[in-house]
Amino acid sequence: HASHPKILPATPESIRLAGQALRDGRLIGLPTETVYGLAARGDQPDSVAKIFAAKQRPSTNPLILHVGDASAVHPLVVLDSAITRRRFEAASSLWPGPLTLVLPKSEAVLDCVTAGGNTVAVRVPAHPVALQLLREVSLPIAAPSANVSNYVSPTRPEHVTDGLAECIEWVLDGGVCDVGLESTVLSIADPNAPPTILREGVLSATKLESVFGEPVLSGSSSNIELPHPPSDAPAASPGLHRRHYSPRTPLRLVRETEHASPANNDLRVLRIRLRGPANSLPGYADVWSLSAVGDPLEIANRLYETLRRADSGEFDQIEIDQMNVEDWIESGNANLIAAISDRLHRASNQDDAPLGR
Ligand code: TXA
Ligand code: MG
Repeated sequence: HASHPKILPATPESIRLAGQALRDGRLIGLPTETVYGLAARGDQPDSVAKIFAAKQRPSTNPLILHVGDASAVHPLVVLDSAITRRRFEAASSLWPGPLTLVLPKSEAVLDCVTAGGNTVAVRVPAHPVALQLLREVSLPIAAPSANVSNYVSPTRPEHVTDGLAECIEWVLDGGVCDVGLESTVLSIADPNAPPTILREGVLSATKLESVFGEPVLSGSSSNIELPHPPSDAPAASPGLHRRHYSPRTPLRLVRETEHASPANNDLRVLRIRLRGPANSLPGYADVWSLSAVGDPLEIANRLYETLRRADSGEFDQIEIDQMNVEDWIESGNANLIAAISDRLHRASNQDDAPLGR
């Protein structure tokens, strides 16, 4: 991939250049430990507007502001409740890391960043290149995942140039993302409610509860209906906005144990196993496995890259094993299992027939 002119090796010089580009209001691809971000300065409406335009992202979906350390969050948020203050102090011990906090926003935060809401999402990412850049520019940097809206999130620099080369100045090459799934989004905006996971990620509720010293609500533990990211098409087509992270090739989830050959043998069908060997199966053009040993961290790490490779045009249909939470309890972190399961459902584009394409 090194040959793409817009992929810059991360050096002190290229990080300085990227910082200047951000100050000048331009977009860059930013490596983080979760996924690559499409970064712009978050304190200027024009720069923020470029993000929404590049991603074709609905203006109703708010952005995360990234900063170089927890103290840089203070001007962006309101911590006037003692409970929220205590929770913020506790949660920021997990920074730098794959955790995004939702807090009441200060006057300093632009409405276009929060989609008009009165809360703001903030994060200190754990990637040396991102940290160096954020500390150098010392501005809040808005960065959604660097994919065109509703496509698969990027975990390598070439994923960024694949979809957004025309929109960015460069992408800093930070290698393959360590985590490979977006950060856990946790709301501590309401002092009268428990800390609440809005988007599952690699962090476990157990870990969060030990940090807070109090229960944490999550969709997977409480079955609450998660406030899905505000939709591009609100009432008209409910369900459509569930379709995030989705390849273009038809993709459906099948039971892990379902080995029946696909009905239509003219189709080139790829089967992606979550775990175990990638033994060939009758009727499938190919079989891939995300983790021979069935390690959820490895599955998370390889998922998006694998979806992108599967979507290269070689296959007519993709079938991936479902991740039934009950079958994975022994593997530990229930929140990570829920996160993977959530992303698999969002990637599938054939489960609701009325919308089928
Ligand atoms: O790992 C990540 O979080 C990556 C890297 C680049 O940091 N970023 C990322 O951004 O995934 P994005 O924009 O693709 O996802 C941000 C999520 C969206 O679901 C958005 O709706 C939610 O965070 N969000 C942003 N601001 C919010 C707010 N004020 N309240 C609730 N949810 C918010
Ligand atoms: Mg995203």
